[in-house]
Amino acid sequence: EIFAGEGRVLLPGFVDLHTHLREPGREDTETIESGSAAAALGGYTAVFAMANTSPVADSQVITDHVWRRGQETGLVDVYPVGAVTVGLAGEQLAEMGTMATGVGAVRMFSDDGHCVHDPLIMRRALEYARSLDVLIAQHAEEPRLTRGAVAHEGPTAARLGLAGWPRAAEESIVARDALLARDAGARVHICHASTAGTVELVKWAKDQGIAITAEVTPHHLLLTDARLETYDAVNKVNPPLREGSDTESLRQALAAGIVDCVATDHAPHAEQDKCCEFAAARPGMLGLQTALSIVVETMVRPGLLDWRGVARVMSERPAEIVGLDDQGRPIEVGEPANLVLVDPDATWTVEGQHLASIASNTPYQSMTLPGRVIGTLLRGRITARDGVAASPGVPGGGR
Ligand code: DOR
Ligand code: ZN
Ligand code: ZN
Repeated sequence: EIFAGEGRVLLPGFVDLHTHLREPGREDTETIESGSAAAALGGYTAVFAMANTSPVADSQVITDHVWRRGQETGLVDVYPVGAVTVGLAGEQLAEMGTMATGVGAVRMFSDDGHCVHDPLIMRRALEYARSLDVLIAQHAEEPRLTRGAVAHEGPTAARLGLAGWPRAAEESIVARDALLARDAGARVHICHASTAGTVELVKWAKDQGIAITAEVTPHHLLLTDARLETYDAVNKVNPPLREGSDTESLRQALAAGIVDCVATDHAPHAEQDKCCEFAAARPGMLGLQTALSIVVETMVRPGLLDWRGVARVMSERPAEIVGLDDQGRPIEVGEPANLVLVDPDATWTVEGQHLASIASNTPYQSMTLPGRVIGTLLRGRITARDGVAASPGVPGGGR
């Protein structure tokens, strides 16, 4: 009877290619269990757990642990993302092959763990990734252009005295790695595209036949640097909130398929890491439970996407990008399915303390948002219903 009710929308379970769970290392802000509950409540049936844990997920011991913990919890399939390199200086490639063949079966590697400063290392990483048929997810930040930066470089930051993060810091890496991927014949995925220039570069690269894909976060679709006015560090994020011309370009690009999918960059942080001075606060914001509503607000309501399009950017494209064939495809009769049921007309009011994450750093505090997840099914089992996550501990039986 979960399916009862008129005007509801049934979609394939959402797939998030970019989630920060804080296990191991910062379990005071999120665990695989708490993050899995947030994911189920947000309509997700698969999430990709980013590699910048502590220690970094640069070995099979950690990537296998992440997969196993996700399966034990049983609320969402937690796919580990492996780090491209080992060591702080990022001078040595990680054993990607070992991680790819472990029980965690890593499909996606990222520099969002250890920064890769050296283009030669990235070139070798792309060649290695190609031989393994895995993907590299590029955080796209030239660190020599963002040293000390805390906000988008523009008139607002200048007026408020906040050090600026230029668009070129992102765009130069997007351009560089599009060319490196072309030469290596490898696939590269651009994380959290945040500028109109990145959209232009991704479009250019796709037109050349380069195997490039891109994601956009809900917050980069909705929020701008106008948010900085209050100096509230909840709005601090990497890449930073940009300008209205960027959000507009990102929305159009998502509608047109230039940007392939929505990914949350869900980034829980402790109260003490967010309530300090803006410059000292950690970057990142919660996203799993609010993603669908922000997509409804920014894309469905203005007529840029219909519900078929929502299925494409939240489920089908992300599943295709990482080669998950149990997600986002038509379901056979009688087959246990990954589904999310949505009430498109219902609204709800965000309350950070009531979200399933341990941390509560949502930028949407007290906002009333459209689109409500009624229920989520993982292989036919209800993992969330009417705002309550199922109890953890029923093994997911994934893969
Ligand atoms: O804002 C961000 N937070 N951007 C990142 O790239 C990392 C993330 C985090 O781990 O908190
Ligand atoms: Zn990142
Ligand atoms: Zn991230």
